Amino acid sequence: MVKEKKRRIKIIGSGYYVPDKVLTNSDLEKMVDTSDEWIVTRTGIRERHVASDEQATSDLSVEACRRALEDAKLDIGDIDLILLATATPDTIFPSTACWVHYGLKAGNIPAFDISAGCTGFLYGLIISEALILNGQCKRILLVGGETLTKITNWKDRQTCVLFGDAAAAVVLKESHDDSGMISSYWKADGSLGSLLSLPAGGSRIPASMETVEKGLHYLQMKGNDVFKHAVKRMGEAAIAALKKAGLKKEDVDYLIPHQANIRIIDATGRRVNVPPEKVYSNIHKYGNVSVASIPIALYELKTEGKLKKGDIILMDAFGAGFTWAGIVYRW
Ligand code: UT7
Repeated sequence: MVKEKKRRIKIIGSGYYVPDKVLTNSDLEKMVDTSDEWIVTRTGIRERHVASDEQATSDLSVEACRRALEDAKLDIGDIDLILLATATPDTIFPSTACWVHYGLKAGNIPAFDISAGCTGFLYGLIISEALILNGQCKRILLVGGETLTKITNWKDRQTCVLFGDAAAAVVLKESHDDSGMISSYWKADGSLGSLLSLPAGGSRIPASMETVEKGLHYLQMKGNDVFKHAVKRMGEAAIAALKKAGLKKEDVDYLIPHQANIRIIDATGRRVNVPPEKVYSNIHKYGNVSVASIPIALYELKTEGKLKKGDIILMDAFGAGFTWAGIVYRW
């Protein structure tokens, strides 16, 4: 019997950008009642990069896109669509994808945002797969950009130690060999949205003096609840994506969980039953950079020479919405 060849998409270039300014745990000790010891033990984070007052999400994203295009040896004229995942858009509208479009001088190609919390990059890969394989696009520039420090309440020690700013981009096209995206699994549960949200500034609670006084323009999170759901759903997504790919845990060369907390990362590794040395983590140097965390990890694995052709990568994310997803990718 001739084995059916599944069509798939692959990454042909990648790049990321983090702002120059670094905020360490000892800097935070001077700002709120916290300690390096608490932050490291409870989250795994040692430092994070913080955007300047002048830098918005699109500025970080444009730089990441330029690097990804350069890596792919392409220019913006070779791209059919800009897809941008973020929870911290420059403006409610126009989309941040359109601000990036402007920054890259992208002619008239389409551009739009994906709002799926920290799962946005994986949602973006799944949307890109559909658009490329149905012939709508040939090459897509997918970028995850985030400036979570802009919506951080620097007086709230429960959240201000967690987040960082970054953007990471990939160029995608159809694969003509065995490499690329093998399987995907994506889900959401809107009933739990209020556990992690930015309450004010939209049509539900428009911005006002009162919303600012109450701090409703800052990210709000019920950390313990989010933690429990994240562990459960990331385990579910990783196992389901692996099953859909027809692979076993022993086949996984790298598990890349979204970098929200080292304890969530470790717990996901245990749930999937992948040994710790195969579970990638870089949270110590970036904090939680939401949609940028998985593509930065991919870029680091690639440039550090840790990936070889044929390696199986399991990507796994959970975020506001709630949303969660898993993707199996053959390098
Ligand atoms: O990106 C996807 C979405 N986000 C996540 O997945 C994040 C999920 N949640 C978490 O990562 C964790 O819940 C946190 C890191 C946010 C919190 O860790 P925790 O182990 O759940 O701590 P906790 O909230 O239960 O707080 C334990 C104690 C509390 O003190 P008491 O009540 O026991 O006296 C907090 O007030 O730690 C205290 N605390 C802190 N102490 C020092 C909370 N934040 C801090 C802090 N420094 N920064």
